[in-house]
Amino acid sequence: MAAIEILPGIYSVGVQDWKVRNFHGHTYTTQRGSSYNAYLIVDEKIALVDTVYGPFAQELIENIREIIPPGKIDYIIANHVETDHSGALPSLMQLCPKAKILGTAKCKEGLYKHYYGDWDFQVVKTGDELKLGKRTLTFLEAPMIHWPDSMFTYCPQDCLLMPNDAFGQHYATLKRFDDQVDQCILMDEAEKYYANILWPLGAIILKKIEDVQKLNIPIKMIAPSHGIIWRRDPEKIINAYLSWAKGKTDKKIVIAYETMWGATEKMARRIAEGVSAAGVEVKLYDVAESDRTEIITRMLTSQGFLFGSSTHDNDMLPNIAAFLEIVKGLKPKGRQVGFFGSYGWAGGAVKEMQEELKDCGLELNPLSMSVKYAPDKEELKACFEFGNQFAKFLK
Ligand code: FEO
Repeated sequence: MAAIEILPGIYSVGVQDWKVRNFHGHTYTTQRGSSYNAYLIVDEKIALVDTVYGPFAQELIENIREIIPPGKIDYIIANHVETDHSGALPSLMQLCPKAKILGTAKCKEGLYKHYYGDWDFQVVKTGDELKLGKRTLTFLEAPMIHWPDSMFTYCPQDCLLMPNDAFGQHYATLKRFDDQVDQCILMDEAEKYYANILWPLGAIILKKIEDVQKLNIPIKMIAPSHGIIWRRDPEKIINAYLSWAKGKTDKKIVIAYETMWGATEKMARRIAEGVSAAGVEVKLYDVAESDRTEIITRMLTSQGFLFGSSTHDNDMLPNIAAFLEIVKGLKPKGRQVGFFGSYGWAGGAVKEMQEELKDCGLELNPLSMSVKYAPDKEELKACFEFGNQFAKFLK
């Protein structure tokens, strides 16, 4: 993709990754691809904010070349070490070996441990400034949003915030701005990004947004390092983050299960009907067949989860086990959770699922339900009641 001027003298020079379907070691499916955004600021001095994933280094360099010879870059702002934003650094630094890299102390350490480059690095802290000419860049450390090295860069002359991963979306498109794309897709991808990457960091995110609000700095544009730039209504995504970080939920339940011969699935379907009959919205997913990233996204604003599994070797089935491992890591505090499943001669799945999630901040509901072999008519009626009663626990 060619360079695009997003503000006078500021160019989006990043790349679209139309093909990527798995991110972060297959923990995140990217059905709409992604983009690695980088921003070139041309003033008396020239700064590049972030780079791109290594395989796209040449495309980044060509995009920069449309504006200036890369050798003219004076500063590279490294907001984040992760390779999707720093992978092109070694190639780029060959073309501008005298450029100074600016980032946090953790960034210095992390970049060195990734690339072992003999580069001129200046450590910056919150409040430090870099004068480019008419423009200034101000830095704001943002540790654990989402790595220890993370940092936001702000340009006060344009009220432009470049927060790297924060407020991003895995969404490949040749459109660059929020007012140019479908709002439902945009917000769904932003929510998916938050749910699958940032959910466990809610308290830190909340504090950081509050800190930024206390600084009283105007923000007219947010240019993240993935996806679309927010210019029409940056408050929209800030408010969405505040809501997600505060753990705001709706009266909704996600049921996620795995079934061996269909008995647990029969239970799940009747449980869902019971939930729905209580006036609560319900989504039902067979984890062996469904997109895990999508399920996690739907869980973010749900007040309750019901997990089901057939028993196999006195334990839960492998796909639900892998799914609960991810759920545990997301630390989804404050939601009600219940369990169900069928078994043959000895149970185990329900107990193992409870055990797996007992310490991750969920409220384990006293209700759970097990059925021997396939459920009969009475047991299906009990499944309906189980779903109906569980739904009534929601606040
Ligand atoms: Fe988009 Fe944390 O890297």
